[in-house]
Amino acid sequence: MLELRGLTKRFGRLTAVDDLTIDISPGRVTGFLGPNGAGKTTTLRMALGLVKPTAGTATFDGKTYRQLAIPMRQVGASLEATSFHPGRTALNHLLTLAPPARVPDSRCMQVLEFVGLGPGAKRRVGQFSLGMRARLSLASALLGDPPTLLLDEPVNGLDPEGIAWMRRMLRALAAEGRTVLISSHLLSEVYQTADDVVILSRGRAVYTGSLVDLESSGQRVTVVSTPDPPAFARLAARLGWQLAGHPEGYAVSGPTAAEIGDAAAGAGIVLHQLATRSDSLETAFLALTEGQGSIR
Ligand SMILES: Nc1ncnc2c1ncn2[C@@H]1O[C@H](COP(=O)(O)OP(=O)(O)OP(=O)(O)O)[C@@H](O)[C@H]1O
Ligand SMILES: [Mg+2]
Repeated sequence: MLELRGLTKRFGRLTAVDDLTIDISPGRVTGFLGPNGAGKTTTLRMALGLVKPTAGTATFDGKTYRQLAIPMRQVGASLEATSFHPGRTALNHLLTLAPPARVPDSRCMQVLEFVGLGPGAKRRVGQFSLGMRARLSLASALLGDPPTLLLDEPVNGLDPEGIAWMRRMLRALAAEGRTVLISSHLLSEVYQTADDVVILSRGRAVYTGSLVDLESSGQRVTVVSTPDPPAFARLAARLGWQLAGHPEGYAVSGPTAAEIGDAAAGAGIVLHQLATRSDSLETAFLALTEGQGSIR
């Protein structure tokens, strides 16, 4: 079990991670979601003892990462922008990790085969495709056979086949009773993989729970397209409707489609689309992380 308690990181005036208190449970895949800059990588780096928290703690069964006797046997991790020595073969890369993980050298080849890199074991990592790198990252994380996996954007850059493969792997690893935390900035990426999600927005957890609950808790949301967004936004503000940005215009929560149509007609605002949506999950995600730009 990974426990975050009041975990906070400030960089100067920016609060990158803001008072996170979350339990990440074993036997499940937890999606750690949020737009670019939400604080996902910073949280993982703090959990791995790479960044010192401004406040709070992250512990694995009660111990911080630095207190673990053999960290790689407890926690397997891959962070974004993990760099492999390009001149080293995949097998040699793992062989350098085997002594600190206290595993026999023979395990390196087994893990490579497990992630489908058996045939590429003797190739230089510099020649690897993105998908092969993703597999090697997972192999490195699995080397110590750890009960906890923290993977930062594990499907980033993978093709559809690679994504399907990674999904099956992560589900199987959780089914063995492991704690699996995967970050992503796309809900759709974790939708078929995660049991639970933690949604971050500007460093704060704005939702923690199961995807099923998020979907069913979804308020009624109507997607509105209009050639005059500012006028519609003013109308919504006047009537107290909640507005969130949506790729097709606005996602409106509160009123029915009929109420929206009537009010828009009354205000002389042309609507091009007025649709109560079934994609409430994506809309709920957008609403929860509303307004966060990629740069802050
Ligand atoms: N070392 C640092 N110094 C200053 N600011 C930092 C540092 N590391 C991260 N930040 C800032 O903290 C915020 C959160 O960054 P972080 O990398 O954790 O986001 P993220 O959720 O992983 O985003 P992405 O989806 O783009 O990977 C950003 O605004 C980032 O610029
Ligand atoms: Mg990141």
